[in-house]
Amino acid sequence: MPTSKRNGLASSTAVSAVGLRKSYGDKTVLDGIDLRIPAGTVFALLGPNGAGKTTAVKILSTLVTADAGELRVGGYDLATDPQAVRAAIGVTGQFSAVDGLITGEENMLLMADLHHLSRREGRRVAAELLERFDLAEAAKKPAATYSGGMKRRLDIAMTLVGGPRIIFLDEPTTGLDPRSRHNMWGVIRGLVSTGVTVFLTTQYLEEADQLADRIAVLNGGRIAAEGTADQLKRLVPGGYVRLRFSDPVRYQSAAAVLREANRDDAALALRVPSDGSQRELRSILDWLDSVGIEADELTVHTPDLDDVFFALTGPSADSAAGSTARPTANPATVPHQRKENDR
Ligand SMILES: Nc1ncnc2c1ncn2[C@@H]1O[C@H](COP(=O)(O)OP(=O)(O)OP(=O)(O)O)[C@@H](O)[C@H]1O
Ligand SMILES: [Mg+2]
Repeated sequence: MPTSKRNGLASSTAVSAVGLRKSYGDKTVLDGIDLRIPAGTVFALLGPNGAGKTTAVKILSTLVTADAGELRVGGYDLATDPQAVRAAIGVTGQFSAVDGLITGEENMLLMADLHHLSRREGRRVAAELLERFDLAEAAKKPAATYSGGMKRRLDIAMTLVGGPRIIFLDEPTTGLDPRSRHNMWGVIRGLVSTGVTVFLTTQYLEEADQLADRIAVLNGGRIAAEGTADQLKRLVPGGYVRLRFSDPVRYQSAAAVLREANRDDAALALRVPSDGSQRELRSILDWLDSVGIEADELTVHTPDLDDVFFALTGPSADSAAGSTARPTANPATVPHQRKENDR
């Protein structure tokens, strides 16, 4: 395992940013961002399209220069020591770096060359990674013939050729089917278990929930919220019990009794605010019994990361980037019910 030899970073900081700013023309993309990612952890950056996730990845991986900010990656200052940063990191971009005209193996060997590995060492590392990413059989075929999932795996395998301690994965599972996505999660967990730090961006909230130690939501050029998945879920209003009826008359009479419930007339459903605890559920059920209401379907909804995402990233997200006056969205004021309407 090329990464295991440098595990001395256990409790240190792999990536830190203080006051990171970036504008393109008069458009402010990153408006003063602070991040601190402990070594050996997974950090997920979420945000709507155009929020600046790729820009943040490009800056922290030395591909684009920031306008301002104190940035350190792998212990090195990005402004004064970009070469050292480059040597410590691997980057898998949002769009594939795989050359389709040559084989998977040749793509790997090209990376080995870029990392100045000897021919022999290059072959060894390429073979080991191709095996690990289940590409050994396809290694001699042109990459253009690979499926999307295979290309994505090759892309990440190429990123690992230099044995980076910190890897940036920009939407590593976009376009993958559920099985390939789960496989990729396994790959990422495997990397972390060897002490690698992973900075990933994703549109899949479940992915962040599954993988990330900490999650930040980027919106309007700023970090709208940051924390563990559980901490973020606690930011949005509590869950609800959803009662669905098939008979409009029974629905109407239930709605008349349950006046504090939110109505969804189209779906013949009522939402009773609830924290989803056993005690509350029992009292709701007892009470429904006592007033003679019998729903056809009862589901318990607890807030998930989708709710957090919708609460923190408003519909004005795109146009808001660039405005410095816009206050951070207050999750408490945004009804979590938006989620179902928007889906
Ligand atoms: N080279 C560039 N020149 C001008 N504007 C740019 C450039 N790169 C990015 N932008 C703008 O910066 C903003 C953020 O783009 P970025 O690609 O970082 O978003 P993102 O969060 O990665 O979005 P997505 O989810 O669609 O990948 C967008 O408005 C984009 O148009
Ligand atoms: Mg992007």
